[in-house]
Amino acid sequence: MKIITRDQPMDADMSPYHLPDPYPVPVNLLPNAEESALLSVAYAGVNSEMTALSQYVVHHETCADTNPDISHDILQIGIIEMFHLDMLGSCIKQLGGSVYMINRYGKPQYWTSKNIKYGNDLISRLKIDIQSENDCINSYRRIISRLKNPALIDLLARIIKDEELHITLFNQMIDKLSIPKSVG
Ligand SMILES: [Fe+2]
Ligand SMILES: [Fe+2]
Repeated sequence: MKIITRDQPMDADMSPYHLPDPYPVPVNLLPNAEESALLSVAYAGVNSEMTALSQYVVHHETCADTNPDISHDILQIGIIEMFHLDMLGSCIKQLGGSVYMINRYGKPQYWTSKNIKYGNDLISRLKIDIQSENDCINSYRRIISRLKNPALIDLLARIIKDEELHITLFNQMIDKLSIPKSVG
């Protein structure tokens, strides 16, 4: 049985959906309430990995019968978001924080399914997904600007690279849908 670990989560089948660079997941972090609260924004906030993962699982299902190739790609991207979520969870736990689905930066807020954006058709969903990736990147950049620990900054900067790739992939899906199907 193939063992998938946090340090090396991807097998070859996942390679189109993430950058090849390794993930610098920190170990032996010291407790730090401020840093763990900052990471909880990316873990369970509005524009979080939890939101991206859930949104892509939904969007994948809506087009599974009509556009199976695109549906498959959306789910694979969702799986990458799950690995991002897992890496953040490891850091939050090491920093002494709770891995409950709560944004604990400022007033604590439970993650809610209201964070998911549904869209009306596949094109609108893919455009929403591009916006969600951009929102995540901007949120990561705000978090990085408040972090002092270089190990955490390195991990978040590495995750941003995957989110940028996801924008490219979602744009390619829109292009694919825009090409008229050949007749005959
Ligand atoms: Fe992500
Ligand atoms: Fe992403």
